[in-house]
Amino acid sequence: MTTDKEQLTSGQRAAPADVLIRLEGVHKQFGKHVVFKDLTVSFRRGETAVVLGASGVGKSVMLKLILGLLKPDRGHIFIDHTDVTTLRERELIPLRTRFGMLFQGAALFDFLTVYENVAFALHEHKRLAEDEIRRIVARKLALVDMQGTENLLPEELSGGMRKRVGLARAIAIDPEVILYDEPTMGLDPVTADTINELILRCRRELKTTSIVVTHDMQSAYKVGDRLIMLYDGGVIADGTPDQIRRHGDIRVQRFIHGDAGLTAAPMG
Ligand SMILES: Nc1ncnc2c1ncn2[C@@H]1O[C@H](COP(=O)(O)OP(=O)(O)OP(=O)(O)O)[C@@H](O)[C@H]1O
Ligand SMILES: [Mg+2]
Repeated sequence: MTTDKEQLTSGQRAAPADVLIRLEGVHKQFGKHVVFKDLTVSFRRGETAVVLGASGVGKSVMLKLILGLLKPDRGHIFIDHTDVTTLRERELIPLRTRFGMLFQGAALFDFLTVYENVAFALHEHKRLAEDEIRRIVARKLALVDMQGTENLLPEELSGGMRKRVGLARAIAIDPEVILYDEPTMGLDPVTADTINELILRCRRELKTTSIVVTHDMQSAYKVGDRLIMLYDGGVIADGTPDQIRRHGDIRVQRFIHGDAGLTAAPMG
């Protein structure tokens, strides 16, 4: 569909036009511990994809691979048509500015105010007057219902407020893609739902592509256009929320119902 695909240079490869991010045959291990073996998964432009899977399955590692913070041992990671595994650190910087990341646990800089946290990437990547930065920060804080909190320190915020500020920071530079790592973890159900609403709002108002890593099924069903479940180094389920709900694999059913399967027959 796009003409730029006709001029592929080395390290680039054609993919369906709506695919923005593609992991292909990715293998990653730490020492002897294999996290991914031949992981292949695509994320489409404009969708909110939810990545599910048990603790330790590699969800955060997958996000770090996409950002180029970790390198796969084998395989390719394409963003648009560029294989990011071939890029040098310096070449990854412009790519990262297309991403906003809400880290697991919000990970605000504790010694910086809310304003300084949200403005961080604006100071790093954009040459803007401080007045303009103030306006952008105020707008992003309003989007997450945290207006007027610029001078507070992270320690003065509740868990839910920290997540909101983390989200304001993630969207500060108007990223094309937002990566959410466990956005509702550690929050009470009502506060968690306000975060779900904000994820939906960001999608609606900023038109971003999103990848949401979670093991909160309520959140997954609410925000996801597509649910992808990781298991034992690869993808075992990939479909709409309805398809996942009705999935025939017992491992998927156990996960979505929070059943450890300890009373059931051992898995074959
Ligand atoms: N830098 C690292 N060095 C060594 N091992 C690592 C590193 N990063 C991750 N791992 C290991 O890789 C595996 C996957 O970790 P990851 O953090 O991606 O899990 P996760 O699916 O995000 O789990 P959780 O739901 O608990 O956040 C774990 O066994 C972890 O110990
Ligand atoms: Mg994690």
